[in-house]
Amino acid sequence: MSEKESKKSMNDIVSLCKRRGFIFQNSEIYGGQNGFWDYGPLGVELKRNVKEAWWQDMVLHHDDMNVDEGAPTTYAMEGLDCSIIMHPQVWKCSGHYDLFHDFMVDCKETGKRYRHDQLVGRWVQGKQGSVFVTAQEGDEAPERIERQALKVSGLRAKNKDQLVYEGEMQSLTEIEDLTSVMGPDAKEAGTLTEPREFNMMIPVTVGALSGEEGRAYLRPETAQGIFVNFKNVMDTTRHRLPLGIAQVGKSFRNEITPRNFTFRSREFEQMEIEFFCHPDESAAWYAYWRDRRLAWFKNLGLAGENLQMREHHVDELSHYSTGTADIEYAFPFLEEGEFGELEGVAHRGDFDLRSHMEGKLDEKSDPLEVQLNEHGQPKYRGCGKDLGHRDDLTGEKYIPHVIEPSAGADRSTLAFICEAYTVDQAPDDKGQMQERVVMKFHPRLAPIKAAILPLVKKDGMPEVARDVYLSLKKHFNVFYDEKAAIGKRYRRQDEAGTPFCITVDGQTLEDQTVTLRERDSMAQSRVPISDLKGIIAEKIANG
Ligand code: GAP
Repeated sequence: MSEKESKKSMNDIVSLCKRRGFIFQNSEIYGGQNGFWDYGPLGVELKRNVKEAWWQDMVLHHDDMNVDEGAPTTYAMEGLDCSIIMHPQVWKCSGHYDLFHDFMVDCKETGKRYRHDQLVGRWVQGKQGSVFVTAQEGDEAPERIERQALKVSGLRAKNKDQLVYEGEMQSLTEIEDLTSVMGPDAKEAGTLTEPREFNMMIPVTVGALSGEEGRAYLRPETAQGIFVNFKNVMDTTRHRLPLGIAQVGKSFRNEITPRNFTFRSREFEQMEIEFFCHPDESAAWYAYWRDRRLAWFKNLGLAGENLQMREHHVDELSHYSTGTADIEYAFPFLEEGEFGELEGVAHRGDFDLRSHMEGKLDEKSDPLEVQLNEHGQPKYRGCGKDLGHRDDLTGEKYIPHVIEPSAGADRSTLAFICEAYTVDQAPDDKGQMQERVVMKFHPRLAPIKAAILPLVKKDGMPEVARDVYLSLKKHFNVFYDEKAAIGKRYRRQDEAGTPFCITVDGQTLEDQTVTLRERDSMAQSRVPISDLKGIIAEKIANG
């Protein structure tokens, strides 16, 4: 099968991540903590490079004196680093306290808990009537459903053609009565509870106060730190709008069923921008950020048909939003044709600033009308401060509208890992073609930029190679390796995604040149040691 034809195996990718030190299961020696992951030596560099590329490209390198490509006008960008724990009122006014929940079902037989919308199933004629057999959605769902169906029908696997299904696979959310539903791990039907709301914020106790008084939450998004600091940033930087404020940091969500490797975790990092602008310009800025963010992923290697932008249908939008687009990637753990969200770009109107000023608005209420409690006061009091903006040139006063490009650092890293993972053929030390696993990261993202390898461990080659290593180490993350045959060392660097291997050989001692091997093409060229820094820097910058 050609590289293009073969669907990448998630199991192979996960095992490479562990074997080569990209990602480890958290607390593995104690059996693991579900929904939490640790980045190993290669993974931490990769993820840092993803976040650094985002910060460089979004925050530092845009030109606030000239109009960036596609931008309606010039704009300013600033960064923030806010605390993970915030005043609980923040989450009441943001809506997370009341509305940030998933529906879950519990299985009374097994004690397991599932997200209601993540179970799929199929009606099958069992020995005691029709049963809706279920499984967690995903690649293996049809197989698991079939296993359940065989059980309730009292059939052996070899007789699976005798199964009598009624209708196609459908979501559990479409089934009203759960009495004939069999949970994914259950032995009999009717053990799933009715769906219940489950708030996804992780509560913590702060200080010595117990109960509600000391209750706080680990932030479920970094965005709110930006909204509550909008005035501070405006006042201290004295920018005019439009202004983007960026933040990278940890967020926490009590996901009911964390799964698909790091894709749905309970602790993850976000890279978020809240972009504040005049309401009349917000539609143009929404289009700008949508296109700019898609281009960013493409430029870093997610260039093919695995990446797509999906505009939300008008029915999917929150009442305050006039547009949302998801940037999505076809992760290998998804079914053919399915995509998973990497980033959402949302037009949030003035919802957030207004909620923090005036109090939390109910989803269904008129956006201009504050929902009142029994005392005629806003249900959740906002800060009462004026978070609006006065244009110092025109004197116009308004509440800025916000465009929010919100990306996951872990999901982006996972997408870059999946896209990079390639199996091709390469000659071994004896010239025989062998299967090669190569991580084709964009050089900017690659954890190690170059490996310096003496051809053999004698004749003065290690000494020269070490000097090359030490001089390049000041500029790039480089690696020195003198163990094993050269072909084996190349292969190890291919798996780590190192774009360049620099080999010091007999000729180096005569003319101060080395071979520079390129990871993807495996092409080798002879270059002077003195040119290495410039060549590597140029290749990293230009991909
Ligand atoms: N402030 C808007 C916001 O938080 P979101 O769509 O809930 O929007 C933004 O999250 C991004 O954060 C997602 O596109 C995804 O990349 C990442 N993300 C969200 N939940 C996640 C989880 N449980 N595990 C890993 N990444 C997650």
